[in-house]
Amino acid sequence: MYEIDDAEIARGCYIHPEISFSKTEVPQSVFETPGMVSIAERKLLYSLASKNFQQKGYIVDAGSFMGASVVSLAHGLMSNSDFSNNRNSNILDSKPISSYELGFLPKPVNGSDRVWECDSLTYKFGESFVPILENSISPFESLIELNIGDFNEFSWPDNPIEICFIDVCKTQNLNKHVSAEFMPKLIERESFFINQDFFFDRLPWIKVTMGYLEDYFDWYGQVFSSSIYKCKKPIPKEVAEYDPFTEASLEECLKLHDNHPKEHLTDAHKLRMCLSRSYLIAMKGDKDEALDYLKVVESDYEHMMDENTSIDRNDRFRFNRAVRQIKSGIFS
Ligand SMILES: C[S@@+](CC[C@H](N)C(=O)[O-])C[C@H]1O[C@@H](n2cnc3c(N)ncnc32)[C@H](O)[C@@H]1O
Repeated sequence: MYEIDDAEIARGCYIHPEISFSKTEVPQSVFETPGMVSIAERKLLYSLASKNFQQKGYIVDAGSFMGASVVSLAHGLMSNSDFSNNRNSNILDSKPISSYELGFLPKPVNGSDRVWECDSLTYKFGESFVPILENSISPFESLIELNIGDFNEFSWPDNPIEICFIDVCKTQNLNKHVSAEFMPKLIERESFFINQDFFFDRLPWIKVTMGYLEDYFDWYGQVFSSSIYKCKKPIPKEVAEYDPFTEASLEECLKLHDNHPKEHLTDAHKLRMCLSRSYLIAMKGDKDEALDYLKVVESDYEHMMDENTSIDRNDRFRFNRAVRQIKSGIFS
């Protein structure tokens, strides 16, 4: 069901040939924009906007941070020759890309100082990074509509969406709002939907939602943490507005959660899916059940748990974090 014929396989990537980007030349400035998304995800976004985008709908970047993802999309769009040639005769009567961003990363609850560093840039949590984002997107002012504020407060107009890049489902409410606002606007057999936080050890609601909406999408692959989908048929408003994570039982949610692409996954990503499952059990069930499940996971993935021999020490870190957070009941 989640297998892709002739998938292109590279480190961290398993991609449908229709969206192959391995041969796409990407301008250096795409990689120089400050941000959190990986090089491969930037290439994917650039390539989707440059080669796959057909001007049948708008482009969304939700959770833009300092600009990496939205600049990748905008740069790609600039190099899309159909877009440049038909700029005035397409259906888009306003700026083609909508970017959503809160504008700051919250200061740790204990009030301590925390910074995010990228090359020569040092950003202090709690401060606004909007000037950095504005600077990143300044060459693309005519293409990008910047929406600063809590995404939960925004609503999407009655416009079709052709590329929807989501890096904002950090809470259950944001996840629910993304589904209700954007999903019904995806175009049958045309739109790409990418959820950046899918192959991640937390945020289980994302896996639950995408499992629930399985019938509406063809799966187009993985690029690092991102899961890529192509819309197969229109998603009715009432289907998109139903939130399985908050409204369905734990059992139902587990089924939906476990209905994720897995055949192609590396052990590291399989472990992440198990950790996400443990958070789901803790959030909707009970913490002891989640901790018991983690004991099984620890033994199944024993070969990755030794910090001295493991290829990636992050595996043990992620596992320990899940145990710690579930024990304390503090999940963020
Ligand atoms: C992982 S970062 C996005 C990284 C970005 N796509 C990039 O290319 O670097 C997630 C972003 O979501 C934003 N965010 C979190 N909660 C939000 C909210 N309620 N409304 C809008 N943006 C929010 C954060 O401020 C953060 O910049």
